[in-house]
Amino acid sequence: MDAFNTSVLAGKVAVVAGASGGINLTIARRFAQQGARLLVISRSEERIGRAADSLAGAGVDVIGIAADVRDYQAVDGAMRRARECFGTIDIVVSGAAGNFLAPAGQMSANAFKTVIDIDLIGSFNVLRAAYPHLTRPGASLMAVSAPQGKRPAPLQAHACAAKAGINMLVQCLAMEWGMEGIRVNAISPGPIAGTEGMARLAPTQAIEQAFKARLALRDYGTLADVADAALFLATDNARYITGTVLDCDGGCQLGDASPAPPA
Ligand code: COA
Ligand code: NAP
Repeated sequence: MDAFNTSVLAGKVAVVAGASGGINLTIARRFAQQGARLLVISRSEERIGRAADSLAGAGVDVIGIAADVRDYQAVDGAMRRARECFGTIDIVVSGAAGNFLAPAGQMSANAFKTVIDIDLIGSFNVLRAAYPHLTRPGASLMAVSAPQGKRPAPLQAHACAAKAGINMLVQCLAMEWGMEGIRVNAISPGPIAGTEGMARLAPTQAIEQAFKARLALRDYGTLADVADAALFLATDNARYITGTVLDCDGGCQLGDASPAPPA
């Protein structure tokens, strides 16, 4: 049963960055299903156009804009366009990211910088560019983090540093913008089935099985699981929640939950 069985986002305007596919597009769809109008952003004109067309085909009032979150001017232009078309911005999801497995000792400086630029600087750019256009009071902003933001992982120095930065960024923005009635949180998905992220982090069946065996809930999450958590944060039911990282991760952030070997 759907706990949100009414149009809880009717009349709201949501911006979702990194929404050409995967988790972020599913979040955008969930918001639209609950009545939100949408601006969706990603780098690729073709991919974001396809995503926007699929949403429009389902009757959603949507604009798709190609903008690289590393380019502040481009992101700023997209936010201004949302304001012009829709009058305000109520909800922002900053979910653009890049990731790959790479040993720190062999990673180029540019490889490390690229992930920091997309995930962390990109999140600042998206949230900062939205700021002048937000509904006050009542706006809900969220960045998409990951368990790597709290727990170190081998081959993930770039992603761990970027997501840890995001966790701190949302807490700082929550402190500064709370007095204006703006909430700022992060959502931290664990391993989610059928995503580009997991295709990169667990590329074989054997790795996937080993991953699941260490999770408290012993299974990957679904795209819908993350979209529902994001929907909750977006609604006024979460009106007293700010500066938090909402883990939607099957217990991933707890660490290895496989039974300890006998002594
Ligand atoms: N291992 C090590 N280094 C890598 C790498 C890998 N698998 N993939 C890319 N790099 C390095 C490149 O060699 C380059 O460094 P260099 O200039 O020193 O050679 C640097 O990273 C930037 O690569 P580039 O391909 O120019 O970056 P981009 O901006 O075009 O793409 C990525 C960004 C690399 C993150 C790309 O994988 C991407 O677009 N990802 C989006 C989708 C995604 O990652 N989804 C999962 C989200 S969790
Ligand atoms: P995905 O499908 O690859 O989504 C990433 C999105 O970001 C794509 O739409 C991509 O679109 C966009 N993007 C990448 N670089 C961009 C840039 N520079 N500017 C603008 N847009 C950019 O990956 P996903 O697995 O669904 O992950 C979505 C989010 O969830 C990410 O923040 C990720 O870190 C987080 N997460 C995922 C998992 C998981 O299990 N998959 C777990 C924890 C956290 P274009 O290529 O069109 O630009």
